[in-house]
Amino acid sequence: MYRTHTCGELRGADAGKTVTLAGWVQKVRNLGAMTFIDIRDRYGITQLVADERAGEELKNTAAHLGREYVIQAVGRVVERAAKNPAMETGDIEVVLESLRVLNVAQTPPFTIEDNSDGGDELRMKYRYLDLRRNPLKKALALRHRMAQLIRNYLDANGFLEIETPCLIKSTPEGARDFVVPSRMNPGEFYALPQSPQQFKQLLMVAGYDRYFQIVRCFRDEDLRADRQPEFTQIDCEMSFVDREDVLGMFEGLAKDLFRKVLNLEFPEAFPRMSYADAMEYYGSDKPDIRFGMRFADVTEAVQGKGFGVFDSAEYVGAICADGCAGYTRKQLDELTEFVKRPQVGAKGMVYVRCEADGHYKSSVDKFYGQEDLQRIAEKTGAKAGDLILILSGPKKQTLTALGELRLEMGTRLGLRSKDRFAPLWVVDFPLLEWDDEAQRFFAMHHPFTSPKTEDLPLFDTDPGAMRANAYDFVVNGVEVGGGSIRIFDSQVQHKMFSVLGFTPEEAEKQFGFLMNAFRFGAPPHGGIAFGFDRWCALFGGADSIRDYIAFPKNNSGRDVMTDSPSPISEAQLEELSIRVEKNEGEE
Ligand code: AMO
Repeated sequence: MYRTHTCGELRGADAGKTVTLAGWVQKVRNLGAMTFIDIRDRYGITQLVADERAGEELKNTAAHLGREYVIQAVGRVVERAAKNPAMETGDIEVVLESLRVLNVAQTPPFTIEDNSDGGDELRMKYRYLDLRRNPLKKALALRHRMAQLIRNYLDANGFLEIETPCLIKSTPEGARDFVVPSRMNPGEFYALPQSPQQFKQLLMVAGYDRYFQIVRCFRDEDLRADRQPEFTQIDCEMSFVDREDVLGMFEGLAKDLFRKVLNLEFPEAFPRMSYADAMEYYGSDKPDIRFGMRFADVTEAVQGKGFGVFDSAEYVGAICADGCAGYTRKQLDELTEFVKRPQVGAKGMVYVRCEADGHYKSSVDKFYGQEDLQRIAEKTGAKAGDLILILSGPKKQTLTALGELRLEMGTRLGLRSKDRFAPLWVVDFPLLEWDDEAQRFFAMHHPFTSPKTEDLPLFDTDPGAMRANAYDFVVNGVEVGGGSIRIFDSQVQHKMFSVLGFTPEEAEKQFGFLMNAFRFGAPPHGGIAFGFDRWCALFGGADSIRDYIAFPKNNSGRDVMTDSPSPISEAQLEELSIRVEKNEGEE
């Protein structure tokens, strides 16, 4: 047996036992008469000590250990004279009787400590070393536990876990596909699934009325902290359900996870907000409702007073930051710089200070008297001591910018604590999105999303105003999941394809297999998919999903550890009937 115990296991009660441990050398301290060695494995760290009783050979081996050597140690557990409460095994140490080097190790390129000295790229290149660090071990253990709990919940509710293929047909909607050439069918390509959407709907036609899968999805899109080119969904679909059934089932899942992972109870139903309200009052389809600071539309209140910027604006919106009237010039300048960043996109910012004595002081005092400013204060609900921040411009853009400013103020005021969780269902998304460049509608969710029944007549009159029977699950401003009730009536599906600009032939070519299946008795159905990586990161208190994925890609979509993507040989290309055109200047 290589070991009798793990390195995280021994406690005071084990004193007197002779044990064998195996693991990596975290640290060696040679104090002359005594050598202390910290041995580490997945479970923890135990202190080994070679004291005066150790023989020459043992002392010699101990003296020549390097960081990350793999060792096997046999010794007796003794209670420490000076206990270390910071270590789980800090009550004991193991007095070495023998020590064997199982493998030597090169010096790692960064320290394997909770706070490593290695930069991001270096740690990704040596990911297997990074994974030895506690924060990553914790992250992966959390991910494992959540996966088990999710499986248990869904299993208990009659869901079957069914796998769907990874090599599928490329469809033009959504993000860009990753494609895979087919050797046996020269010139033809598979796509990797962006999600198993069509397969789960086919499973509903097949009668598997409760399906789920913890499944890898692939999207060739620009990456951010919460986006990876391959990520994992908890993908679910149900038959004979309406929206309430789906929301109820998955609110149950979310509450189960909150309870079992974070020890948090949510006795009330999660709040719901329409997409329209989310945009109007928070400037985002995934509002962070850990704090209020809703927008006030002050367009009417500020126009007609001679201030050209506001007079010519389509929309003027304001937020009220509680207790911030004392903001300095510098702080206000910083906020103005913030809103002018290209990612935020405002031209400038106007403020109104609601001073303690009831007076108002604004950056546009020239145009607005005390009464005018008071009207603005009333609209935003501001009281003495508060600061009002105002942005103006085209409505959509200004709402988005105000949304960013709101989040920035929330952060500055400490209203976005990672230990607080504010779940929310955003419902009634628009069915379609107009794309100016393509001069056509795109499905906001996907082309199988059902419109709300009461909006069906709008297909012929005002498709842009139609709402979808779609919902997103949002927590703390993170879109954790999204889904919809699907179209199962072929007439409605045809209409949908036609507004999306597909001719019947094109629709047949792209989605014929699904439409065909629907001719054989499709049940009413709907579902949802959660971003599993995001959910884990959220529960773990991290902003980036990277550390919740064992082997992630960097921001350019590269795996820097295996150096991929990489060119393939001429022979491979030939076999696939592919010719790669080199760009100018390339070898
Ligand atoms: P959607 O496209 O909204 O829906 O995806 C579902 C959830 O997956 C997560 N997600 C991502 N996570 C990490 N990296 C990415 N690149 C990434 N893209 C999406 C998000 C998102 O909410 N088939 C539909 C679901 C349905 O209708 O049932 C779908 O894929 O958390």
